[in-house]
Formats: sequence, C-alpha cells, structure tokens
Amino acid sequence: MSFLEVLNVCKSFDDQAVLKNISLSIEKNEFTTLLGPSGCGKTTLLRSIAGLSSLDSGRVLLDGEDITYKNPRDRNIGMIFQSYCLFPTMTVFDNVAYGLRLQKIPPEQTREEVQGVLESMNLLDKAKSFPAHLSGGERQRVALARSLVMKPKILLLDEPFNAIDAKMRKSLQLTVKDIHKEYGMTSILVTHDQEEAMRMSDTIHLFNDGVIEQSGTPTDLYLDPKSKYVASFMGNYNVIDANSFSRVTHGRYQEGKTVVLRPEAIELEKLPFEEGSPGHTFVGAITSAVPQGSIVRFGVDTEGVVLNVDVLVDKATAFRVGEQVHLRILTDKILSFCFGTRFSILKRRVHD
Ligand SMILES: Nc1ncnc2c1ncn2[C@@H]1O[C@H](COP(=O)(O)OP(=O)(O)OP(=O)(O)O)[C@@H](O)[C@H]1O
Ligand SMILES: [Mg+2]
Repeated sequence: MSFLEVLNVCKSFDDQAVLKNISLSIEKNEFTTLLGPSGCGKTTLLRSIAGLSSLDSGRVLLDGEDITYKNPRDRNIGMIFQSYCLFPTMTVFDNVAYGLRLQKIPPEQTREEVQGVLESMNLLDKAKSFPAHLSGGERQRVALARSLVMKPKILLLDEPFNAIDAKMRKSLQLTVKDIHKEYGMTSILVTHDQEEAMRMSDTIHLFNDGVIEQSGTPTDLYLDPKSKYVASFMGNYNVIDANSFSRVTHGRYQEGKTVVLRPEAIELEKLPFEEGSPGHTFVGAITSAVPQGSIVRFGVDTEGVVLNVDVLVDKATAFRVGEQVHLRILTDKILSFCFGTRFSILKRRVHD
C-alpha cells in the first residue's frame, strides 16, 4: 500500500460533479503535482485530503490509516494556501511558533525548534518582523516554516508561487524542492503552470474536469501524451487536424486523425532538404519570432497552417520574419490520435 491512497473519491457542489471518482497513490518522499486548468477540481481534492472539504463518497488512507472522517487537526497534514494566511499581528517567530504553542510544547523546545526551522529557511534575521514588512518570497518562506515546524506527514501546497514575480518564483521553487528533500517530506503541489509542474515533480497527475486524464513522470507526460488534451496542455505542442496536416504534406498523410507535433521536432533550414531525404519536407514563411531564453519560437505558415517551431538561439539568428524557409518532420516524431469515446482514446505512432 502507498503512503497516501485516494480511493474513488467523488464530490459535488450544488449537483455539479467536481471530483468524479478520483483515485491516486502517492509514495513516501514523493513530490507530486496536481496539474490542470482553473476550475478542474485541484483545490477541492487538496482540501479533501486535508479534511477541510467533506467527500460524497470514497476514502483517503494515510500511512495505512483510514483518515476519511478524521478531524483535520488530527491528520498531521500541513497545508499552505496561496494567500499564506499568516497572522498579521504576530511576528515571524510567533507565526511559526503558533502551532507548537497550541500543542503545549514546552517554551524552551518551541524556541529551539522555531529557530532551527527559521535558520534553514534563511529567516533568522526576520524573526522579529511582522508579515506586512516582508517581501512576497519571505512571506512564503514563513508560511513554509510554519508548516514544516509541525513535521507534517504530508505537505500540501496550493498554488504557493502565484503571487510572486517570475525570477523569485524559480528560486523559491528550488528552495521548496530542496526543503522537501532535506526534511524527507512527502509533498503535493497544486498548480496550473505546466513548466512549474515539470520542474518540480516526481509525478504529475494531469486533471481534466474532475478526472485524472494522465499520470506519470514529467518526461512521460511530455514525450508520451495519451490524448490530445494532454498533448495540448504539456509543452506547447502543435495540434493539427487531419485535413490541415494532409494539406501541409500534400496529401501524403491521409489517416483522418489529429496530428500532434512538438515544436522542437520540426527542423528548419534556409536551403531545401536533399531530394529523397526522409520524412515530410515542405516550404513555409516565418510569421513570428519569439525569443524564449535558449530557444527562439518561430511561427511558420505553411499552406495556411501556422506551426510553432523551436530553434536553438545560436542557429535562430539565421532566420528573419517574412523569409521563406524549408521544414522537415521526421515521421517517427509525429503522434496521431483518433478520438472515440472519452475513455477509448487510441494513439499510435505514424509511419510512412
Ligand atoms: N465551496 C464551494 N461551493 C460551490 N462550488 C465550489 C466550491 N468550491 C469549489 N467549487 C466549484 O468547484 C469547481 C472546482 O473548484 P476548485 O477550486 O477545486 O478548482 P481548481 O482546479 O482549484 O481551480 P483554480 O486553478 O482556479 O484554483 C469550480 O467550478 C468551483 O466553482
Ligand atoms: Mg485552486
């Protein structure tokens, strides 16, 4: 049995089903992410695990114990909300000490434990500050310290980086991941940010309207999406309907299925590919160029279909918006999907 087991969990609000028979398992020390668009039920599941939202049916087991009906206070689960919920009239030290004092831990032990956790969060010099005088990142670390000092069996993080600027967010993501490892924690992060999920997770559960569409490692979900939905959510895939793709490849592709292509799987050249070279080759015109750090993402119009094509930045300097370019897609890089009913998604790789 896994450390945390969520079994056939259902939850509705006003007859609207929000969690539709969700089951998932989480191992000890795993960093798990619940990923999905707004309103798909991520927070509701997190709150159900914490005991803050009751279930219509299903069970939650933690460390072998059925906690479905257990009081949230007795579950030994830490939860960090997006707003951090710090007490504004208490200092950083008192915020972090609050839970230990409630548990009547002796003052000397409380002081030692709070100082220990503040030190590991690099917050000792802020111990006497009030939350209003802290930066967003510092507040987030106080919220983390306040949870960690209670040594929870599991730490739940609901979009904790949302309110933080992009640069600080990346460094805090690394801090949280380091702390997760250092404290030997089991953590569940909720986010709608696919890159954040890829960066932080051992396992991702991708949600779609109250069900888990696919679970796996970040690489599994990125390289082997099981449905068009997963492909669209992970990694800026090009999702092209069969007719358009057939037009792009001049009728060589006739299978009547949706085609999915990663932007880095399309090759871009100024000169034509050699006659008889493998894969599909065609011409297009560059319509846009967006630098994204180590790559540039080009929009390339071919037969009225605009493909996103990623090119490493040093090679990208050769291309200009408005130019004609040559493209190649190797057939083993194409994923195609045939959609029947929701649960009978068929996927296979396409060959010539
Ligand atoms: N207490 C509630 N009463 C009524 N409806 C609710 C309640 N809590 C959540 N919902 C509804 O349930 C659905 C799922 O909400 P939830 O907060 O779990 O989504 P989410 O995936 O966390 O979205 P977001 O990324 O926007 O935070 C939404 O349609 C929401 O309006
Ligand atoms: Mg939410």
